[in-house]
Amino acid sequence: MLMGVGGWTGRVVRRWLSERDATRAMASQNLNDNQRLWEAYAKRWPRRHSAIEDPALRAAGNGRLARVGDEWGVPADIDRIVGEFIRPFVAADSVVAEIGVGGGRIASRIARDCNRLYCFDISRRMLAHARRALKDHGNIEYVLLDQSRIDPAFTAFFDFVYAFDVFVHLDLHEMWKYFLAFRMMLKDGAKVFIHTTNLRADGGWDRFVRQAAYSVEGHYFISPEIVSILSERSGLRIVKASTNDATNFYLHRDYMAVLQKPAAATNIASDIISARRRPSSPGRTPRPDHAE
Ligand SMILES: C[S@@+](CC[C@H](N)C(=O)[O-])C[C@H]1O[C@@H](n2cnc3c(N)ncnc32)[C@H](O)[C@@H]1O
Repeated sequence: MLMGVGGWTGRVVRRWLSERDATRAMASQNLNDNQRLWEAYAKRWPRRHSAIEDPALRAAGNGRLARVGDEWGVPADIDRIVGEFIRPFVAADSVVAEIGVGGGRIASRIARDCNRLYCFDISRRMLAHARRALKDHGNIEYVLLDQSRIDPAFTAFFDFVYAFDVFVHLDLHEMWKYFLAFRMMLKDGAKVFIHTTNLRADGGWDRFVRQAAYSVEGHYFISPEIVSILSERSGLRIVKASTNDATNFYLHRDYMAVLQKPAAATNIASDIISARRRPSSPGRTPRPDHAE
């Protein structure tokens, strides 16, 4: 393409192109790291997994682990988050999406409360685990993602979207992609629950200073102020937010927020929101490229 461009102009253009390509490659490094990490984790589970954090489950031994993820956290702490930040926004006729379903730890708590649950993940093996864990539910769809992007076939499709224990591993650019996706995939007035790190929480700060450098196995640290900026810039409004609470592991360490898409679509800069498509008709089932 640049064959005819020589001299100083050619050098400048070639340099610009290589910087642009480098920026694109860097932007997807976090995605690649996440994909490698979770594929490997799902492959070796249940032979190997991280330490079982719930003392009762630990005492009972590995045989009691029903799903990938049961080793993370204590059920009572998770039930409280689900009870305060997810279940109140899900009704029997809701079409719901989970971003980063993993082995179905949260989906198994929500599946029977909604009409349809779409489970998105970048890890094929995690989706296979989720499918096994949720096999008794007939209302689940599994969608393999190849990037942090939701097919526009899902425009204005969901009544509620949630992501638990996922954004703590995403860098800011990957998070921003999802904020834009939320705005696209939610129906007008619908809500999304997100869970991020929190430098303002006591437990979040402790974890930050214990981590020497960023790694995908560790956490990517942000604060509620950054969630506010991303919400504002994507045209979502924070309608519920967590406060620091030492009696719950996640509320002591992290930040939880419920964001709402405006009831009537407001104008938003065209450079951040991809072209809106016609709202879906009830009952339509999109056929995304990677439906499992
Ligand atoms: C720690 S697990 C949590 C799984 C589940 N939400 C739970 O709480 O048990 C993180 C999950 O997020 C998925 N994930 C990581 N990056 C993602 C991305 N950019 N888009 C969608 N899913 C992603 C991983 O493959 C993995 O299944």
